[in-house]
Amino acid sequence: MTAAVPDSLALGSLRVGTPVVLAPMAGITNAAYRRLCAEQGAGLYVSEMITSRGLVEGDEVTRKMLVFDELESVRSVQLYGTDPVYIGKAVEILCADHGVAHVDLNFGCPVPKITRKGGGGALPWKRDLLGEILTAAVAAAAPYDVPVTMKTRKGLDEDHLTYLDAGRIAQETGVAAIALHGRTVQQAYSGRADWDAIAALVEHVDIPVLGNGDIWEAADALRMVEQTGAAGVVVGRGCLGRPWLFRDLAAAFHGEDVATLPTLGEVRTMMRRHAELLCEHMGEERGCKEFRKHVTWYLKGFKAGGELRHQLALVDSLASLDRLLEGLDPAEPFPTHELGTPRGRQGAPRTKVVLPDGWLDDTDGRGTYVREDAVETTGG
Ligand SMILES: Cc1cc2nc3c(=O)[nH]c(=O)nc-3n(C[C@H](O)[C@H](O)[C@H](O)COP(=O)(O)O)c2cc1C
Repeated sequence: MTAAVPDSLALGSLRVGTPVVLAPMAGITNAAYRRLCAEQGAGLYVSEMITSRGLVEGDEVTRKMLVFDELESVRSVQLYGTDPVYIGKAVEILCADHGVAHVDLNFGCPVPKITRKGGGGALPWKRDLLGEILTAAVAAAAPYDVPVTMKTRKGLDEDHLTYLDAGRIAQETGVAAIALHGRTVQQAYSGRADWDAIAALVEHVDIPVLGNGDIWEAADALRMVEQTGAAGVVVGRGCLGRPWLFRDLAAAFHGEDVATLPTLGEVRTMMRRHAELLCEHMGEERGCKEFRKHVTWYLKGFKAGGELRHQLALVDSLASLDRLLEGLDPAEPFPTHELGTPRGRQGAPRTKVVLPDGWLDDTDGRGTYVREDAVETTGG
């Protein structure tokens, strides 16, 4: 059976014009990138992950990450934490002092540094602790009418699945929606996302489920909601070097079939815009440095020569970027063989999920949180 395709998304009282969410990606989804994507089409554009402890303790790096574009009317922030008290305070600060309209909580990060402390994807194993954290977040956000969502994975590994319980707990604690990345922590980014798990979660809960994993084209997003009944999609790696995917997604969810195939000249313009926005937000030196990591993604599949790519990956000013971009043939057509193929991290599964000692002994976890680092920017 195929489910109907929604044309908008309701998170509590927040209505999103297209059921599409930009996946929080550490080091990527800063104010500049969110603006760039939002210029393409409606959706919800979530920030990089910031830590609740960093926010509560007024850490400088955290403060600098919490910037928004002047045109960003819906401020959406992903928060990380393991301690309900810190999470509650951090949500309060986001709502009261930063005008945030949506808070997402990270329970999916597979990075060993995070799971070793029982955070990210490790945390949902402790059902009661998860409930405490969600309760604290929802209570802090309620006076501001700000919806809280959570994002998670299937579980630690296939023998330790947590997503169905997480969905139930999210629903019981007043969470507005749950996003599921159809992989386990152990899989990290390897293999294929399990969309059947997304469908199972949709069956299991009454709150909206957002499907995540392996959406490379707008058609994949439609297929995902049709197959799973998800209320919307969360798109990460598919939009790396391709902000125009959000235009195609918005069109697809409103019944139009659009596949943007920019020439290299148009990609060049997008690259310039991206670098310019980064420099506006971070200053030219840092902005150019941040831009470097996007070069390979923008040029994926194009013929652009090795030396030019190399130079672009070392760019240190907008003037030198302009000179280098001149070297790209504006007439080169989009490499259509790239369509539908994975981009960004993939890698191998982990041999072992690193957890705190005795983590699997029980599923309660109240009072057992290990304090996270104030500054943690690894994310996903
Ligand atoms: C570079 C990178 C950084 C990420 N950082 C975060 C993060 O901070 N928080 C989070 O919940 N997920 C993070 N993720 C995971 C994505 O949000 C998403 O769940 C994952 O990439 C699967 O979706 P996709 O197949 O559309 O990429 C990150 C992923 C990547 C590739």
